[in-house]
Amino acid sequence: MNGSRPWWQSAVIYQIYPRSFQDTNDDGIGDLNGITQRLPDLIDLGVDAIWISPIFRSPMKDFGYDISDYVDVDPIFGTMADFERLIAEAHARGIKVILDFVPNHSSDQHAWFLESRASRTSAKRDWYIWRDPAPGGGPPNNWLSEFGGSAWEFDAATGQYYYHAFLNSQPDLNWRNPEVVAAMRDVLRFWMRKGIDGFRVDVIWHLIKDRQFRDNPPNPNYHAGRPPNEALIPLYTTDLPEVHDVIGTLRRTVDEFPDRLLIGEIYLPVERLVAYYGRDLGGVHLPFNFALLSARWDAKHLQALITEYEGALPKGGWPNWVLGNHDRPRIAGRVGQRQAAVAAMLLLTLRGTPTIYNGDELGMPQVDIPRHRVRDPFERNVPGIGVGRDGCRTPMQWDSSRNAGFSRVDPWLPLADDWRSNNVANLREDALSILNLYRRLLRVRKERPALSLGSYRPYVVDEDLLAYYRELNDSRLLIVLNLTDGPQALKLEEGAHARILVSTEAKRDGDLVKGTVTLAGDEGLVIDMASR
Ligand code: NOJ
Repeated sequence: MNGSRPWWQSAVIYQIYPRSFQDTNDDGIGDLNGITQRLPDLIDLGVDAIWISPIFRSPMKDFGYDISDYVDVDPIFGTMADFERLIAEAHARGIKVILDFVPNHSSDQHAWFLESRASRTSAKRDWYIWRDPAPGGGPPNNWLSEFGGSAWEFDAATGQYYYHAFLNSQPDLNWRNPEVVAAMRDVLRFWMRKGIDGFRVDVIWHLIKDRQFRDNPPNPNYHAGRPPNEALIPLYTTDLPEVHDVIGTLRRTVDEFPDRLLIGEIYLPVERLVAYYGRDLGGVHLPFNFALLSARWDAKHLQALITEYEGALPKGGWPNWVLGNHDRPRIAGRVGQRQAAVAAMLLLTLRGTPTIYNGDELGMPQVDIPRHRVRDPFERNVPGIGVGRDGCRTPMQWDSSRNAGFSRVDPWLPLADDWRSNNVANLREDALSILNLYRRLLRVRKERPALSLGSYRPYVVDEDLLAYYRELNDSRLLIVLNLTDGPQALKLEEGAHARILVSTEAKRDGDLVKGTVTLAGDEGLVIDMASR
């Protein structure tokens, strides 16, 4: 269908947070067999690829982002055989599988770190970032952990500090050491040999730190209520020029196998973000574009950020969009249930590869987690300012049976209150549901390549309406999104014969429109402009 284009340009990616997807072994935590069991639901939804958050052996201090063996599956999620069955069954159904790769830090329980910390002369000492105390004692410099406190942890036995950008149980690997690079390239090859179609690389912009370990400068815009690490500008700890050499090496490794995808997790302003496509596009294929995660939800602002992003892309750089993930508040929590449908239409009609976060297709809410049930180490370390990530990680709501069909026992995190009504089984029966909107949009994306591969051209924008064309050959689609809860109207181009392909209201699908199109509050439309 898409000629010589790589598969991921027309694909829709679905992020699975495995702990919360489907439990099959009655421990209240999702597992690999649960994902395999739910593949038919993903086919029904219409996604092309799944990215699974870490499933590797881990003490689970950061729920899998602290890996103690990069080439094994954690028993909580199942066995290697379960994993192999999942890939085989996904592939048999035409679904690609993307894994999370967490190269910046390992667990402090990883054999590499245990060896590294054993003595100053250990062969693996330099695999991690060890420094002497400051001349007067204390940490070597002022670097701060993302999860609160100093980023340096003292190891009394060897008298040095090690650096950890996140938890003190997540020591950073030293990517300036060629042995680390070689070991990690082998990790990538290991999973690609198993048939993996790509990787999402965790905090890729963190991989290289200042050689001279200079203090980070204070952030003049810091204010109370923000995470404490934001008091400093991470000038010497992230986004260093040499990181692009490391990424180039990862990319070349991925390119040893045909058709593999490399995605980078990068929270940076657009002009810095696009550098991660790499010189001559030799960086990651998709530097995750998180602009929508924190966007002010009005038409003008959204239009501006789309234009800025489109304008910043390097030649040949393929765009991508993300509306939610396991680290950020749910979209329905941010913009409300009704606007979440408009947001879905935006995500699935912008130019570039979209990533859907599991549960957003149900409009799952951001859940208030009672204090005694908080699991997220970030919230535990930095309580009370709203950094907690448990609220976007609650279990999937499959049906109205016990625990929403997620598990036969109490789940590791509480369910959202709305699970009895808001679940896959119920929403599937309701033509107007957000789930069916996702399904309709995904179907239209398949039928109309203009939506995945076409060009993007803004039509009009005012405070309330966002409208743009997606065009490919003689196919021309107009997307109109009402960002308000009141009715709006938009004048179509003179003489246009147009038909509604998808409305968030469903009832209007197939209707002809001419002259001026009206939209109900919180309505979005995909209109076929070439229709007679
Ligand atoms: C980014 C991941 O998405 C997040 O969940 C994790 O806590 C940090 N990296 C540290 O690994």
